[in-house]
Amino acid sequence: MSNPSVYPVPDTYLENTLLDEEGYLELYNRSIHDNEAFWREQGQRLDWIKPYTQVKDVSYNKEDLHIRWYADGTLNVSANCLDRHLAERGDDTAILWVGDEPGQSREISYRELHAEVSLFANGLKSLGVKRGDVVTIYLPMIPQAAVAMLACARIGAIHSVVFAGFSPEALAGRMDDGGSRVIITANAGRRGGRSVVLKQNVDKAIALCKETSIENVVVVNCTDDETPWQEGRDVDYGKLLAAQDAECPAEEMGAEDPLFILYTSGSTGKPKGVLHTSGGYLTYASLTHQYVFDYRRGEKFWCAADVGWITGHSYVIYAPLANGGTTVMYEGVPNYPDVRRVAQVVDEHQIDILYIAPTAIRALMAEGDKPVEGASLESLRLLGTVGEPINPEAWKWYYRTFGRSQCPIVDTWWQTETGAAMLTPMPGATPLKPGSATRPMFGIQPALVDGEGNILEGATEGNLVILDSWPGQMRTVFGDHQRFIDTYFSTFAGMYFTGDGARRDEDNYYWITGRVDDVLNVSGHRMGTAELESALVAHPSIAEAAVVGFPHDIKGQGIYAYITLNAGEEPNEEMRLAVRNWLRQEIGPIATPDVIQWSPGLPKTRSGKIMRRILRKIAANEFDQLGDISTLADPAVVEQLISNHNALG
Ligand code: PRX
Repeated sequence: MSNPSVYPVPDTYLENTLLDEEGYLELYNRSIHDNEAFWREQGQRLDWIKPYTQVKDVSYNKEDLHIRWYADGTLNVSANCLDRHLAERGDDTAILWVGDEPGQSREISYRELHAEVSLFANGLKSLGVKRGDVVTIYLPMIPQAAVAMLACARIGAIHSVVFAGFSPEALAGRMDDGGSRVIITANAGRRGGRSVVLKQNVDKAIALCKETSIENVVVVNCTDDETPWQEGRDVDYGKLLAAQDAECPAEEMGAEDPLFILYTSGSTGKPKGVLHTSGGYLTYASLTHQYVFDYRRGEKFWCAADVGWITGHSYVIYAPLANGGTTVMYEGVPNYPDVRRVAQVVDEHQIDILYIAPTAIRALMAEGDKPVEGASLESLRLLGTVGEPINPEAWKWYYRTFGRSQCPIVDTWWQTETGAAMLTPMPGATPLKPGSATRPMFGIQPALVDGEGNILEGATEGNLVILDSWPGQMRTVFGDHQRFIDTYFSTFAGMYFTGDGARRDEDNYYWITGRVDDVLNVSGHRMGTAELESALVAHPSIAEAAVVGFPHDIKGQGIYAYITLNAGEEPNEEMRLAVRNWLRQEIGPIATPDVIQWSPGLPKTRSGKIMRRILRKIAANEFDQLGDISTLADPAVVEQLISNHNALG
């Protein structure tokens, strides 16, 4: 009998697919049992300058932790994304850029992209950027973001893209940590019909930098907004390009030379600079893009993530371009000018594959069927989601509306650290279950462990770990290898710890249950509670703060801040607004708290540790599940917190 909660592979995929279920199982088994041979073969999807002879050199042992793939090979990532396509596909569209305002779009061929990347790479060199230097990129979703990343890759500079929604404070912290001397930005970006100033943010950030001094700011002029200018330091992108040679040979890089740093939040401390290298990252990104999306050349692939996040790095830029595909780069937001925009873009440009975050799906779903009203959507053959767990209701809505009950949905679980998709369906191979990221990618050995690191068998629930390395794995935390070891390899010896919890069902399908550490996932954006709290206590009126996540219909998780004000401060509306704006200023609008609760005291153990479990339960209205509160220094605090929570209404 058929199971109504399982969606079988559609007939269209059974007839014409890269891989059916049997094929997946066979290749998966080989990828595990003949691991090195599998990866030796997969490395061949790239063009190497000097071919590798070594494949895998990995130890997860804390004393000697290292991860190296294809280490003696050399290549250039930008040449793999551009040059090697020129002879056969030079006129194919590499980037289909779709603007914020309806009707605006631009196609950029591989040849054109190659030309602009070469010019800009020479431009960076003329500013003194050398192999191994870190270059910060703070750009909106415009083609120059791709150009800037690929130009860095071309000359062997390490890019550090900072999401353009981050505040000057957050940007300064990342520039300091990376030690970059050059930043690439735009005067302003467009989003949802508004212009968002960026250059001013950069100027402020430069003034805040303590460790590094910025020598040049390259500015792309993409709006008519006025731009403050500092002669000698600020460089106009267009003028810089006009002064360059067209030819820029791609630098020969080692497979293990860094490609980029991308900052992400953890459970403690400042954001970490996740470092990815060249050969392994691109091999893994390319492999996943091909199989997860069953990608065929000529298809238009729309990953709606911003380049400021890992999803944008891997699936807007590197993987589709390495595979010679057409990547859609969308400048705007899903609901501008109205909620029909995503469907309209799909129809107008005949998009084949749509890959978006559950939070966007839930926001559209809140409008009923309006988001697909009047749309055909027949060009779509596959849907994807990423970034956070998707609730079955949203999955089904997405399947029925955008998917016309015909397109599989690949729910891809992965992380900034993993480089590309790790647990995922494959459209021709995997019967789907709404809410499950299903099964592992080739070469990936997931496991569930208990609190002591014992591997659990069968249908069960536990901490999600990965037992062996894969080429797309991060290599270190920039500038702090010990933190890399401590964060990922110390909780459970000999395993990579993801920080996520998961359930495995009787069909060996994985269901991510969410973070098991103090990391929030707000609208698919990862935020550390420690980071939010340290920003809060930096406010002159705040004595203490504790932040937890709580279930939120659209965002998945919302930000709930418990705040103790300094003696004499008034907990009034004005103060609430000030605290809210403070977080926006310190981190960015994505850190806007949903709830601020004044808390004269916080629940602490006798040793002074805040018991977040209790705060999470109160925020979620689960007062009956507070658990044992007898170990608190002052159990009466709890009642006060509950009554303040209820008073919020
Ligand atoms: O908790 C998991 C959640 O997002 C975290 C990684 O966040 P980040 O590094 O910002 O990368 C997001 C894009 C890859 C994970 O630890 N997550 C990501 N994808 C899923 C997910 N949770 C459930 N299902 C997913 N498909």
